[in-house]
Amino acid sequence: GCIQDAGKDRLGMELQEIMRGKFPHFMLKEIFEQPDSLFNTMRGRINFDSYDVRLGGMAEHLGTLKRARRMLFVACGTSYNSAVATRQFLEECTEIPVVVDIASDFLDRACPIFRDDVCFFISQSGETADTLSALKYCKAKGALCVGITNTVGSSISRSTDCGVHINAGPEIGVASTKAYTSQIVSLVMLGLMLISDSKAKDERRRAVIDGLKAIPDMIREILALDAQIKAIATELYKESSILVMSRGYNFANCLEGALKIKELTYMHAEGILAGELKHGPLALIDSTMPIVMLVTDDSNFTKSENALAQITARHGRPLIICNKDRTPKTEEHTSELQSPYDLV
Ligand code: UD1
Ligand code: M6R
Repeated sequence: GCIQDAGKDRLGMELQEIMRGKFPHFMLKEIFEQPDSLFNTMRGRINFDSYDVRLGGMAEHLGTLKRARRMLFVACGTSYNSAVATRQFLEECTEIPVVVDIASDFLDRACPIFRDDVCFFISQSGETADTLSALKYCKAKGALCVGITNTVGSSISRSTDCGVHINAGPEIGVASTKAYTSQIVSLVMLGLMLISDSKAKDERRRAVIDGLKAIPDMIREILALDAQIKAIATELYKESSILVMSRGYNFANCLEGALKIKELTYMHAEGILAGELKHGPLALIDSTMPIVMLVTDDSNFTKSENALAQITARHGRPLIICNKDRTPKTEEHTSELQSPYDLV
C-alpha cells in the first residue's frame, strides 16, 4: 500500500510539473493565462457581431432578477473584491440597490433577508465554508440564490438555484488571479444581459461589449511589460509597507492588490479609497511612504488627479498606474512608467 501511494504521489507531482510548463509556479502561469481564461469566460456567451449576451444559466431567471428589491453579493477575499469591482456597473444596469458583504460578517450580523432579495454567492472553489453557510441561510429565507463559481459540481454550484460558471479553468495557485478577472467579466456580462432590451442603455451596452472584446489583447500588452514591472516590484519589496490607492471602479483593484501583496510578500499593504484620504489616511503620507496610485481613464480621472495632488503636496512620491494615452498631471514624474517612485 505504501509503495503504491508513494508512486501515486510521484505521478501527481510529475503531472503538476508538466501542467506548469515553463512557469516556475502556478500563480505565474495563471497570470499569463488571463487572455485565454477571459476569452473562455466569454466564449459562447457574447456574440461580438450581433452584440448579444446570453448566460445560459441565468436566462430563465431574468424576470426575478429585474423584479428584485435588492441584490446582495456575498463572498470572501478575492471573490468579495470582484463584487466590489462590479457593484457600480450592476447598480447602473439594474437601478436596484446592490449590497456587497463579506460572508463571515454577513453571518455575524445575521443580516435580514427577504423573499424578494436576490442573493449571489461568488466563489472560485465553490467550497468556502462561510460563503456556503451564508448561502444556506439565504436559501432558508426564501430568496433566489445565484452562484458565480469556477468549479462545476462544487457545493455552491450544486446548492444554488441557478448561476454562472466562470469557466476560467482550474486555479491551482493559492493566491487567486485569473479567477478574479473572470468573476468580474462574468458579473459584467450579467449586467449587460439585464439591459439587453433597454433602448436608453443600448449605446453604453455596446461600448462595454466592445471593451470586453478588447480585453484579452490589452492584457497581452500589459503582460509584455513583465520585466519592467518586475524591476519596480524588486525595488518596492525592500520596503516594509505599501499603500494602494484609487477610487471608483478601481477601488476593488486596490483591495485586491493589497491582498495579493500581503499574501505573497508578507509585507503590510493597505487598499485606500482616495475619497477617504482627508478623513485620516493623509496622516501616513510623506516622502518615505511607498504608495501605488491607480489613475485610469474613467469618469473619476479628475478626482483621482486631485487625490494625487494631495499626496504630492505632502511630499508623497507615488508610483502611478495609468493609461498610456492619458497620464495624470504631476509636478514631479518623469520616468517612462510614470513612476516618480524611481526618483526616491
Ligand atoms: C452550459 C454547459 C456548457 C455548454 C453550454 C452550451 C455545464 C456545466 N455547462 O453552459 O458545458 O457548453 O451549456 O450551451 O454543463 N449553475 C448554478 N450555480 C452556479 C453555477 C451554475 O446553479 O454556481 C447552473 C446554471 O444555472 C445552469 C448550469 O448550472 O443551469 C450550468 O451553468 P453554466 O455552465 O454557467 O451554463 P452555460 O454557460 O449555459
Ligand atoms: O474559493 P473562494 O473564491 O470562495 O475563496 C475565497 C477566498 O479564500 C479567496 O478568494 C482568497 O482570498 C484568495 N485565494 C486570495 O488570493
